[in-house]
Amino acid sequence: MNSGQTEGATPLDPNETAGLLLTHLTTREELNYWEQQNINEAEQWAFARRQTDLLSQKFICRLHKKMFGNVWKWAGRFRNSYKNIGIDPWQIATETASLCENTRTWITHATYQPDEIAVRFHHRLVQIHPFPNGNGRHARLMTDLIVKQILHQPLFNWGSENLTSPNETRKKYINALQVADRQLDFAPLLEFVRS
Ligand SMILES: Nc1ncnc2c1ncn2[C@@H]1O[C@H](COP(=O)(O)OP(=O)(O)OP(=O)(O)O)[C@@H](O)[C@H]1O
Ligand SMILES: [Mg+2]
Repeated sequence: MNSGQTEGATPLDPNETAGLLLTHLTTREELNYWEQQNINEAEQWAFARRQTDLLSQKFICRLHKKMFGNVWKWAGRFRNSYKNIGIDPWQIATETASLCENTRTWITHATYQPDEIAVRFHHRLVQIHPFPNGNGRHARLMTDLIVKQILHQPLFNWGSENLTSPNETRKKYINALQVADRQLDFAPLLEFVRS
């Protein structure tokens, strides 16, 4: 059940593994499958209506719950544990709220081009790493919703490949996030999302 084999993935700690609602699952493949079913439902729900409170802590948690609530007991709740990626757990609520506020300001003042606003939001959300797991998939869907419903841009392609399995495309994605981490340079990520 440990996702440590995939580069850039968050290992689950035993408390979190204990939160698996589908107790009949025995392999990671089965888990991936049921998570994906849940995510498909969540995507349909999310895009079917105009979300008026997208940039809020409440919606961030609500979307995570919609995406993983059939599979994980802790879906939609911020983590209490420390991770190899992510800020200290006690800072998550305030940092998430200030990310939402900053993003609203960037939009109001057109501080950056629309794609760059979306990419900066995405990078900071995965850097915060609010949840025990599912942060990458959740932050990509959050970003897609912002791109579509607030920025009115065509959706990102995210490298046009499955980012959850360990492949070249995922490597590029993680590298681009790391360049943004180290150098505050968003160019590689900006290019990646439209590739
Ligand atoms: N060095 C890094 N800097 C910033 N973000 C990172 C870094 N490494 C990984 N990430 C982000 O963390 C995500 C993995 O976190 P987590 O396992 O919680 O998400 P997931 O949705 O389960 O995984 P995945 O995105 O692989 O499907 C990656 O998708 C990526 O967005
Ligand atoms: Mg994961």
